[in-house]
Amino acid sequence: MEQLLSSHPGPIGIFDSGYGGLTILKEIREAMPGYDYIYLGDNARTPYGSRSFEVVYEFTLQAVRRLFTEGCHLIILACNTASAKALRTIQMNDLPHIDPNRRVLGVIRPTVESIGTLTHNGHVGVLATAGTVRSCSYPMEIHKLFPEITVSQEACPMWVPLVENNEAENSGTDYFIDKHLQNLTQKDPDIDTLILGCTHYPLLLPKIKQHLPPHIQVVAQGEYVADSLKDYLNRHPEIDRQCTKSGKCTFYTTEAEDKFIESASIFLHQEITVQRITLE
Ligand code: DGL
Repeated sequence: MEQLLSSHPGPIGIFDSGYGGLTILKEIREAMPGYDYIYLGDNARTPYGSRSFEVVYEFTLQAVRRLFTEGCHLIILACNTASAKALRTIQMNDLPHIDPNRRVLGVIRPTVESIGTLTHNGHVGVLATAGTVRSCSYPMEIHKLFPEITVSQEACPMWVPLVENNEAENSGTDYFIDKHLQNLTQKDPDIDTLILGCTHYPLLLPKIKQHLPPHIQVVAQGEYVADSLKDYLNRHPEIDRQCTKSGKCTFYTTEAEDKFIESASIFLHQEITVQRITLE
């Protein structure tokens, strides 16, 4: 039997496998500072990028259920891997049983919607985790809206561990950045727009830009996700009414609190407090 969920308004839930979703949270809070948020990072089980569909779905559903019991009516999967592998099944199969009035949204669609106006020559590259690349979510979603765009993908399995281990700015990281950018631009030398299809990658932006020819524009997702969420809440006042608004943000992690605090301060440029929880 489903657990009874509170019908009172609550914070917006933001979920990621680790720290990457903090780049999305930051942009969302800048765009909508009045709302309340709960950020949940499944740091104990990150990365999701190399895990199977079944495992990503199972872990993501656990996180979604937990955020619902914390009072969230709206959850953003601020993780491309979870958006690619779990979002649709949760929306179609689980939400109708859990509570048809709650919403779970992802980060791929808002990013894809922006692409048509960003590329000039219709050649787009996607950098993402192996799981997101294998799911083909980006090419499929882009082609639904813009069938004429050529999409090339490159999986960057080392990039998330480098970010999670605070190596983003160190010189050893250059090798892995250059390698994958070279691979991608060899697949399609005409790429003019590059999507960072993983919420961790904006932390590598300075190095990515250093290793790319200047005519290639790099699209980080945060601002598009934030704009899209704002628009969504304007169009759905019934969901907006279920979001509390006192400007508060609460953090949960499934790993050690001190590690989260240290890394989160790098992502958010602010000191935070966090509570460790267990997902099951
Ligand atoms: N932040 C996740 C994403 O956007 C990747 C991290 C992971 O592999 O768990 O895909």
